[in-house]
This record gives sequence, C-alpha cells and structure tokens, in this order.
Amino acid sequence: MPVLKNISALYTCPTDGLQADVGEIKDAALVWADGHIIWAGPESELPKSYRGYLTFDARGRMVIPGLIDCHTHLAFGGWRAAEFEMRSLGRSYLDIAKAGGGILSSVSATRGAEPEKLFEKSRTLISDIIKLGVTTIEAKTGYGLDLDTELSVLRVYRQLNNLGLIDIVSTYLGAHTIPPEYSQDRRKYIRAIINTIIPMVQIEGSARFIDIFVEDSAFTADEARRILTAGIESGMRAKIHADQLSACGGAELAAEVGAVSADHLEKITDAGIQRLAKTGVVAVSLPLASFYLKQPPLPARKLINSGVPVAVATDFNPGSAPSWHLPLAMTMACTMQSMSPAEVLKGATVYAARAISVDDTVGSLLPGRQADFAIIDAPDVNHWLYHFRPNACVATYKKGRALYDVTVTVPVYPWY
Ligand code: NIG
Ligand code: FE
Repeated sequence: MPVLKNISALYTCPTDGLQADVGEIKDAALVWADGHIIWAGPESELPKSYRGYLTFDARGRMVIPGLIDCHTHLAFGGWRAAEFEMRSLGRSYLDIAKAGGGILSSVSATRGAEPEKLFEKSRTLISDIIKLGVTTIEAKTGYGLDLDTELSVLRVYRQLNNLGLIDIVSTYLGAHTIPPEYSQDRRKYIRAIINTIIPMVQIEGSARFIDIFVEDSAFTADEARRILTAGIESGMRAKIHADQLSACGGAELAAEVGAVSADHLEKITDAGIQRLAKTGVVAVSLPLASFYLKQPPLPARKLINSGVPVAVATDFNPGSAPSWHLPLAMTMACTMQSMSPAEVLKGATVYAARAISVDDTVGSLLPGRQADFAIIDAPDVNHWLYHFRPNACVATYKKGRALYDVTVTVPVYPWY
C-alpha cells in the first residue's frame, strides 16, 4: 500500500460543489492500494496505520487527478499544415472546406492509411500525451466515414485501450461531414449511417458515444436528431459538435435528446445556455479550436453562472486544433475564457469525466476512485497555469502504477 507524502497542495476535485470547488488540501498525503485511492488528507492527519508503508516523496510539488481529455479526434492519416498557412493568411476554415480541403482531405488520407500505421501513429502520440499527466482520453472516428474505415478506426482505439496505458473511450462520429461518394445524395448517406453503420458499430460494441457535427457545412439539427436517436436506440449516448461556427440549434438539440455533452459552443445563444442548464448537459470548451480558427471563445462565465458545468479539452485534430497539449488548452481557458485556474482544473478532471460518463471511477481523488493522478512541478494550481511551461508534469500514475515518473531525476523547479 503506497503513500505519497510531502505534497504542497492536493486537489481532490469532488463531483459536487461549484466549478471552483477543487477540494484543495495543503501539505497533504495520498494513500492507495490495489489501484484505488484509500485516503487523501493533510499529512499531519495521516493515520498511524499507514505510516510504515512504502513511501514516495512528492518533494513539495502539487498533485491532481489524472487529466482527462474528453474531446479528441486521435486517429487520422496525414496532417494539414498547408491549410494552416492558408488560414494564417486569411482564408476561412469554411472556405477551405468548401474547396474540398478541411475534413475531406483528412478523410482521403485516413482511408489510404493502413490500420497498423494509424495504430503506430496514435501510440506515439499517446506516449507524449501521458507525459503531460493525462490518464484518460475520448477518441472519435469521423475521418473514415465509410463502414470499413470507421470500424477499423474503432478497432485501433480498442487495441490502444488494450495496451493498458491510458483509458481510451471511443465515439462514433460518422456524421462528421458528407463523404464525396454521397455528395449528390446526402439522404442516402444518412440512411447508410442509420441502417448499416450504427448496427455494425453496435454489433462490435466498439463505441460508447455517438457524435455529430451540426453546422451549415455538415448536418442540420433535423438530420442530427434522426441520427442521434438511432445511435441512442443502439445503446450509445449522444454528444454534439454544437454552435461552433454559427448558432444552428446544436445546444438546444443536445438538451432535447439528453446528450451527455455539447461541445464547442462559441456561438451558443442565451436560450441554448438555459436549455443546457435545465438538462444537466456538460458544455465542453475547446480553446485551442477557438484560437486556431481565430474565433472568440464560448461564453464560459455565462455558462458557469447559469449552473452549466464547463469542461476543457483539446479537440486534437489535424485541422482546427492540431495540438494534444491539454495543459496549454487549460492556460488558454484561463486567459481567453475568463475562467480561474481552479475552475479550469475541475473542467479538465471531474467535469471532463462527466462529459464521457466515467466520473464514477476517475476525475476525482476520493477514496474508492481509481488511483489516476499526476504530480505537477508547481506549488499550486494558480502558479501552474499562470507560469506555462512545455511540461510541468513530473509523474503520471494510472491505477496506482507509474506510467511516467521523473520526480527524482528532475530537480524541483525554482518557483520559490
Ligand atoms: O472539432 N468541428 C468539426 N470537427 C473538428 C474539425 C475537424 C477538422 O477540421 O478536421 C472540430 O473542430
Ligand atoms: Fe471536434
């Protein structure tokens, strides 16, 4: 039964309370056994019975629940750096998409990639992601669109999950855009999703969530209602890419179908906010996407003041958010979205867990929860997110086991 002592500040991130209630405990200790937390509190109150156990020294650093990236598009073929250059020079995301670039260019690269290559590429990315303190990610399909490629990406996610490193929670996003072979008959593609692909995803049991891009360039709210309903009837829970580039009724639809989350929301209306608040849908903010598309962010303060939990995720994808750096997204959530570091921490842990329905096992450092945690080389959450460094994480533990640990080899950073 290991004990971690000498923690400057421990953040338990309880499921209840306000967005800013992160359960900070100064000068803390943490005890776990068999992959689960059994005690968290001030070190001065550590029960005597734990004192003789194997002890690790956090060396005065802070400890947080393992970070959760609840919105990624992890597996895709190729990259789209040329589009980044075009957007930098002023061309719009929608303009590039209409000219056959955007999501469709990643679709053709993904269809052309061997599943083994997608697996190896994703595994390399995951090994970097782990070093940031991330212990669970959600991963979407949506760059295959046809039956074979969508199922094969879901199998890649299952294999990555089976590595036993971080947990991968899969989402089927076949309704990301209309694929080229159906460009003249969108209704036929929607029928293929409902009658063929969703049933196959269900048979393989490979996705927990169904997602859709509700936008002028993608699917209307009415089309989304039919697709999401079919997914829900097949046992998946709904998520929605909502109100990103225009107010298309995405948030309202999320409330109507009982979605677990509505993501993006840069253009959400006041009515949409009220609907989310009434129905308990988590708002997932994606500051990297707002930043890369040069858009004002979602109205996080209005959402929080209305009682909507706001999660923070990367949206990692080859187009609108080509970075998997969750701590960078967290710092940007403070500066762009006017959220406090504590609010952001809750957004990337317990509320992110809620956005993918895993908050009963991860996202909080409470007795009984999985011992997924990270040691961050900073005295407290304010200092961590204020003084951005490429990587302040010095250890990542999953189910009580170190996936990454440089606590001893890396000297404590001179933040004193
Ligand atoms: O979440 N909004 C739609 N989908 C992605 C972008 C995908 C892409 O550009 O490849 C997003 O931003
Ligand atoms: Fe996305």
